[in-house]
Parts: sequence; structure tokens; C-alpha cells
Amino acid sequence: MDPLNYWAIAERDIEIQNPVTDRKLRLLDNYCDIRDGLSVLDIGCGKAWLMRQWAEKFAIEGVGIDVNARFLEVARRKSPARGRLTFHNRSMSGFSVAPQSYDVVMCLGATFTLGDFPQALDWMVKAAKPGGRVVVGDLTLRHAPVVHRGEILPLDTISMMNVVERHGAEVSATISASEADFERYASHHRHATLTWGRENPGHPDHAEVLKKSRADWVHYQRHIRPMLGWTIFVGRTAD
Ligand SMILES: C[S@@+](CC[C@H](N)C(=O)[O-])C[C@H]1O[C@@H](n2cnc3c(N)ncnc32)[C@H](O)[C@@H]1O
Repeated sequence: MDPLNYWAIAERDIEIQNPVTDRKLRLLDNYCDIRDGLSVLDIGCGKAWLMRQWAEKFAIEGVGIDVNARFLEVARRKSPARGRLTFHNRSMSGFSVAPQSYDVVMCLGATFTLGDFPQALDWMVKAAKPGGRVVVGDLTLRHAPVVHRGEILPLDTISMMNVVERHGAEVSATISASEADFERYASHHRHATLTWGRENPGHPDHAEVLKKSRADWVHYQRHIRPMLGWTIFVGRTAD
């Protein structure tokens, strides 16, 4: 099964592809001081819901990068009223930009495309103009498990904020998903994949889609719900 197809199925009915709500994302209008003339880079943009909202209201110049062509089809469907958006269907691997070239460098739920969290911050801060914004949303550790084996855990919010600030951006705001936000996002994936399974019983990926859907659902219930959160950090680079 192509993992890109899995995500196209799991996220076919949603345009915000992370665990926060539209109202929470719109707080970024103010925290990033979005206005006419700004340049925005959206790393792992998916359907680029937020950047499209900004381009409806403001004459921004936005660039979105994503490996999944199905998501970019949605992102490109309607020309925004005021801004100009360009989307590149490619991997972030090997993608480079001139230093200090964007007013807002954003990565919501896709830091893994740039390495680990510190590596992602390093890349993003270098790409931001002096006095620009880096906006990074990622999993956070809310409660450490008493016993833990296996995969590497995310950092807690204090450690993540320290990483952003060590890279030269002052954190001016955070926006966190609630437990209910995360539950809605995970339930959406489960619901959409089960519905797809009923609609496509003969599909060659049927068994694999349902197997991954179940594994992700159990992972959410067992590990994410009790221990992990999801937070957006807004950093401002030095003038
Ligand atoms: C959790 S989604 C977030 C999408 C979007 N930023 C949002 O918040 O709605 C992660 C995105 O990263 C994209 N992605 C995964 N690997 C990638 C890579 N190597 N290069 C670029 N994008 C990638 C996926 O296709 C997906 O759209």
C-alpha cells in the first residue's frame, strides 16, 4: 500500500490535517501579524487550509510543499481572492531556500520532513527573515509513562520552547490541541477508513488500510490520549 493513498483516504473529508480547530488556527492571523505583502512558506502544507484562508483576506505570496498530490489538488482547487499561492509536489528532502527569504516559515505536523525537532527548527529559522515568524506544530509529551520501551518520545513543551529559543527565535505564543480536539482528529481517521473499507471491499489495499487504521487507532487510545498533546509554537526571529 502506498502510504500517500492511506492518508488520502483517512483525511479525505477534512481540510485541517492536524488536531487543532479552525478557531485556534485563526489565532495565528494575529500572532503572525498577517498582512498584505508578506511571504509565507508552508512545509508539508497538505491541503493548506490556513494559508488559503490568509490568501483570501490578504495579498500574501505563499509557497506550499507537499509529497501528496491528492492534497495539493484540493489546495489548488480555487484561486484565492487576494494572495498568490504556488504549490510544489515534492519531498522536503533536498529542498532548499535562500537564507532569510520568508516572513513566515510554517510547519504544522510535518517537522519529521526536516529531521528531528531541533533539525527542523534549525532549517526553519535559517529560512525566516530577521523579525520574521517561525510557526511549528508538533506532538508534545504531556505525561511521561512510568515504564517505557520502544519508540522515541516527543519532548515536553518547555523543552520544545527551549529548542525554538536556542535557535534564536523568541516564543511569543503557543496554541494547544485539547484532548477533545485530538480525539476528534483520531476518530475522524478511524471513521473515514472504516467507511472507505465498507465502500471498497474488493480494493487491493483493503486489508492493509484496515490493518493500519486499527493500529493507529489503538496507538491513539493507548499512548497518545494519556501521554501526548499537540502544540503550535510561534517564534519571532531576531531583528
Ligand atoms: C499531518 S499532515 C499536515 C498537513 C498540513 N500542514 C495541515 O496542518 O493541515 C503532514 C503533511 O506532510 C506531508 N509530507 C509527508 N512527508 C513529506 C515530505 N517528505 N515532504 C513534504 N511533505 C511531506 C504529508 O503529505 C501531509 O500533507
